[in-house]
Amino acid sequence: MTIVVTGATGPFGRHAVESLLARGVPADQIVATGRQIDKIKDLGVRTERADYEDPAALRAVFDGAEKVLFVSSSEPGKRVPQHRNVVEAATAAGVSLLAYTSIAHADTSDLILAGEHQATEQMIRESGLPHVLLRNSWYYENYDFAGVVENGLFGASGDGRISAAARGDLAEAAAAALIKGEPRVYELGGPGFTLADLAAQVSEVAGRPVTYTDLSPEKYAEFLVGVGLPEEAAAVISDADRGAAKGALETGPADLEELLGRPATPVSDAIRAAL
Ligand SMILES: NC(=O)c1ccc[n+]([C@@H]2O[C@H](COP(=O)([O-])OP(=O)(O)OC[C@H]3O[C@@H](n4cnc5c(N)ncnc54)[C@H](OP(=O)(O)O)[C@@H]3O)[C@@H](O)[C@H]2O)c1
Repeated sequence: MTIVVTGATGPFGRHAVESLLARGVPADQIVATGRQIDKIKDLGVRTERADYEDPAALRAVFDGAEKVLFVSSSEPGKRVPQHRNVVEAATAAGVSLLAYTSIAHADTSDLILAGEHQATEQMIRESGLPHVLLRNSWYYENYDFAGVVENGLFGASGDGRISAAARGDLAEAAAAALIKGEPRVYELGGPGFTLADLAAQVSEVAGRPVTYTDLSPEKYAEFLVGVGLPEEAAAVISDADRGAAKGALETGPADLEELLGRPATPVSDAIRAAL
């Protein structure tokens, strides 16, 4: 049995490889891929360079693989053609399971970020391959907790609950789903918080008052540009908060905790680690 992990040069994929090893998959049955593979020589598994823009390289690394953990590309706007190359290569190899890192509620989500995930899920369904959809909510790591202590928390998600989780938990869950091998859709996140709850938790850990300021999505996008984000990124982030206000990032912890076999890491741990 060979498991290929794409995007293994990023923190999510690296943690997924480490979790496969920790859960007993022999190192010689794991192939870790990405572009900057010098970064993962220390993992102790076979590494192969495979760019999502290089169909021949993808086909070569998937050849003979039983399962693939397909970590979504980090290049929004380019993902649909890149992801098509990955799905076509997995189809050519006839893998027995393709697991893809998607977004919460991809089938119904109206977030800007969801569009490329919806297109990818569609390609995967049309491939006919047995598949797992790992619909991840937000990472705790998306928040700059040290900055929040200094400047307060700003957002536009109102009373919407965001089922954020530790990126490491989501990656460990991906490894567990791959080992389990059951084709399924998972909605993955933690117990969740409103941004006002999050500010209160940061305040408690930091031992100083931290306020949450709820803005309209338009004002929040302006705020993000004001603190240095490019306009396009600001629009995507404020749009995510707009959707989160209506539950777009709320999954609850059931699927994540089922895969982990333990409670999700609490956000206070992530805040403490960051501070
Ligand atoms: N749910 C969330 O809150 C959230 C937040 C951020 C990101 N994400 C998604 O989750 C994914 C994994 O997260 P992460 O934190 O590990 O992200 P990351 O640090 O940005 O890592 C992205 C990974 O994708 C690989 N990649 C990007 N373009 C590629 C290409 N053209 N060909 C081959 N590999 C390519 C990178 O490889 P190289 O570095 O070797 O080029 C890297 O291994 C991201 O790519 C993104 O789709 C989700």
